Amino acid sequence: MTPDLKVVIAGVEFSNPLMTASGCCGYGEELSEIFPLSKLGGLVTKSITLHPRLGHPTPRTAETSCGMLNAIGLANVGVDKFIAEKIPFLARQKTKIIVNVAGSTIKEYVEVCARLNDCEPIDMVELNISCPNVDEGGMEFGADPKMTEKSIRAVKKVFQRPLIAKLSPNVTSIVEIAQAAEQGGADVLSLINSLVGTAIDIDTWQPRLTNNKGGLTGPAIKPIALAMVDAVYSHCKLPIIGIGGIASAADVVEFMLCGATAVEIGTALFIQPDIPVKIAKDLKTYLKDKKLTSITNLIGKVRKYK
Ligand code: SIN
Repeated sequence: MTPDLKVVIAGVEFSNPLMTASGCCGYGEELSEIFPLSKLGGLVTKSITLHPRLGHPTPRTAETSCGMLNAIGLANVGVDKFIAEKIPFLARQKTKIIVNVAGSTIKEYVEVCARLNDCEPIDMVELNISCPNVDEGGMEFGADPKMTEKSIRAVKKVFQRPLIAKLSPNVTSIVEIAQAAEQGGADVLSLINSLVGTAIDIDTWQPRLTNNKGGLTGPAIKPIALAMVDAVYSHCKLPIIGIGGIASAADVVEFMLCGATAVEIGTALFIQPDIPVKIAKDLKTYLKDKKLTSITNLIGKVRKYK
């Protein structure tokens, strides 16, 4: 029997637990030229804001050992153009559509989400309360439990489908923030966003990003992400989408054993854009070898030492 990769999150059925991480495939058009997006459980768009943003000047990415730094500065087309020009394409894709939303104020998050609420093809919104690369908003909301709860509560009033809170690792206690998101009415948690970092060019003595610092992603952050997923899973009831350096089926299994119901693949897409197709195939082989009929059998099943 072929093992079942299906997962259900907040009442929404995903054909498999693999999604793209926000910012790693724009609005999906280019990725669809490489493989059919129906192979993904879900596609998470680049962060959308109320007004278009050009983002930071280049260079805004830099390679590091086992990872990547980015400080894009939330470059995006803005919600109106997104709805007019990107939604028609996304609506034709046979995968779940998750729109990542960022803002500088609670009012901005609410305005964007209210407009997205009228777009039928959108299955969920992922609220980016964790961007480390902007002066206003972003991490400001996700680093303070009260602001986290307040922003989620406000968005829940205008957005009627499931809401994901994307959490920052750049906090003293991610569990406290996760609990605040749960309190505010979030339906799902995704973690982790990037870790603040920098890199310096030793010839020019300048930072390698024009923003001077950025967010570290990729395999380098996987152990941190796993420990955070494990901690949040032990203290919150909400389903978790794991993010952080996922590049193989083994990585997905680790995240699911620690409590994730699904995962987002980010930096690995820049190395091998069709990696989700390979991971889905390898997951089936792993489940078959383990004589498991459903991938959901893995969720939270890590066998910890006493
Ligand atoms: C960026 O656009 O700078 C990255 C977004 C994020 O990390 O949330």
